[in-house]
Amino acid sequence: MTKVEWCDQYYIGNERIDREHQAMFELVNSLQRAIDDGESMQVLESMLEVMAQHTIAHFQHEEDLMRDHDYPGYTRHKQCHDRLIQKVAKLIKEFQEGEAIVMQSLTKFLADWLKHHIKGEDQKMILFFQANHFNHDVQPSLRVANALAANTTH
Ligand SMILES: [Fe+2]
Repeated sequence: MTKVEWCDQYYIGNERIDREHQAMFELVNSLQRAIDDGESMQVLESMLEVMAQHTIAHFQHEEDLMRDHDYPGYTRHKQCHDRLIQKVAKLIKEFQEGEAIVMQSLTKFLADWLKHHIKGEDQKMILFFQANHFNHDVQPSLRVANALAANTTH
């Protein structure tokens, strides 16, 4: 049983991006609850589609932000996004074709991917914006500053 808990280390300091990340955590948890409750394949499939749509829109927002700021890590970061979208699209297709996919491992994969990506590529992106004083759309708070400081010490 997978559950992703939001905590301060996941704040990156951009209000919109943080809100969308929190929504993604919730979507993973809702999917896990639905699996645990034995919901029908139709319900699980529609939840997967909502998750895919939300993820695509969220990645688009991050990619717009990176392009607007000429972020040098754009290509690498976008590749991470594209790979996840391909993986989720493949899973949905398998699901629609009735292949037995292990839903527990799907939610674990999504939860692990999200935590790793936010603490890695997303925080690197925000550190670049801050270092270049692109603070007009990045709103660091004390907890964000602490999380970033903790992240850069190792
Ligand atoms: Fe990202």
